[in-house]
Amino acid sequence: MERSEILKQFEPANENMLNILHALQNNNSQNYLSEEDIKIAANYLNTTYSHIYGVVTYYTMFSLKPRGKYIIRVCNSPVCNMENSTKVIEEIKRFLSIEVGETTDDKRFTLELSECLGRCGKAPGMMINEDVIGNLDNVDFKSIFENYN
Ligand code: FES
Repeated sequence: MERSEILKQFEPANENMLNILHALQNNNSQNYLSEEDIKIAANYLNTTYSHIYGVVTYYTMFSLKPRGKYIIRVCNSPVCNMENSTKVIEEIKRFLSIEVGETTDDKRFTLELSECLGRCGKAPGMMINEDVIGNLDNVDFKSIFENYN
């Protein structure tokens, strides 16, 4: 979708900034905000590039570099950490052959860490894009990841 089509969905008001940035990022096939995205958002919201850039770098859900089609965010907050999120992270790293912050060669997955996902009752947990997946102890990651093509 053209960026102008995305912007039309929102009033050019400061309170819409995060939604606009999310929409622009979601529209990018590489799941990130380009320099052009930031410029256009700044222009639309009548603010500066550096203001938008500051917001983008503050929130971990935004990225300034290209990422995979699917973003895996493993919760590493205290409850998940006590329930072995470290082991989960190591297993995913091994399974996908990437480190945290990296993207698989086929551009399918990017692995990131996350703060609490609000599903501590199912710790340890992760998100794959918008899907929350819990109880990751002793799961078969192959069967999870093969659902994301
Ligand atoms: S600490 Fe992981 S979901 Fe809350």
